[in-house]
Amino acid sequence: MDVTKPKVLVARRVPATVIDKLSPHFDVDAVQGDGVLTPDELRARLQGKAGAYVTGTERITAELLDACPELRAVCTMSVGYNHIDLAACTARRVLVTNTPDVLTETTADFGFALLMATARRMSEGERLLRDGRWRSWSWDFLAGSDIHGTTLGILGMGRIGQAIARRGRFGFGMNIVYHNRSRLPADIEGQLGARYASKDDLLRQADHLILVLPYSAASHHCMGAAEIALMKPTATLVNIARGGIVDEDALAAALRDNRIAAAGLDVFEGEPRVNPALLTLPNVVLTPHIASATMPTRLAMAGLAADNLVAALTGAAPPTPLNPEVLPL
Ligand code: 8YV
Repeated sequence: MDVTKPKVLVARRVPATVIDKLSPHFDVDAVQGDGVLTPDELRARLQGKAGAYVTGTERITAELLDACPELRAVCTMSVGYNHIDLAACTARRVLVTNTPDVLTETTADFGFALLMATARRMSEGERLLRDGRWRSWSWDFLAGSDIHGTTLGILGMGRIGQAIARRGRFGFGMNIVYHNRSRLPADIEGQLGARYASKDDLLRQADHLILVLPYSAASHHCMGAAEIALMKPTATLVNIARGGIVDEDALAAALRDNRIAAAGLDVFEGEPRVNPALLTLPNVVLTPHIASATMPTRLAMAGLAADNLVAALTGAAPPTPLNPEVLPL
């Protein structure tokens, strides 16, 4: 052990390239294997550490920060940071960084793939085929909804929402309607061919609704029974943001009663546990939080998080800080 180097914790198994980036600068304590540290284990492993390299599975709370007073930087290998109490970090002058941009296009690709699989009933068809239940052709056999030329509603129009809008507009000739906390500048709306609408109007108009908004107390269950009731009975709902945005019991009830046609879900409120009500429904496509999971993108995210940690603790400018106001550390 080199006592002159700051100590950092890498809380999950990461590509070797991350350790290669960190090792010249830090005394690295890297978790091996694919387990997730419990909150107690995380607190214990963070003792004496100046930096934490985390992912979406590690919760950074005010209580944890108080128990780890030497911590100066928390660098997450994710764009979402709802697992980190940013205000508590800022109040304690702990830098937080995330990994925007590098996953935008890959995540948008997946959002579109999930939308298409959902609207065109691909999982249902594959299950039927594998189960030996494919007997013959009939006119309405697995007939789903069109994508091209329909109205795509996007709730949350940040980088990923805009990348999805481009795919919808220019790839599939869709009408793009969006709702966001703040309206986009007119020139960006023009480039995307996207029309702003109130949330209720968006829900009423969308043939396909995709959720790409950040998760926070304000967006918790913002798609509940009342919101789902505004959607068309033929509509599909796709969630690639965070599970807690959707009231899963309300969604399962709507899918069961065919009050909307189908849903595609990559994220779940209690993941990796999945609400049992969803598991039995035929008209829902379920994937295990893999929207950013391509090898190039995961390597880019991993590398960016490492670059952030190195910069944060060596006095350089971190590429993607969330609370730059705490700098210099
Ligand atoms: C990650 C994500 O796979 O970046 C995010 O916010 O949800 C995913 O890309 C996950 O959070 C791992 O950190």
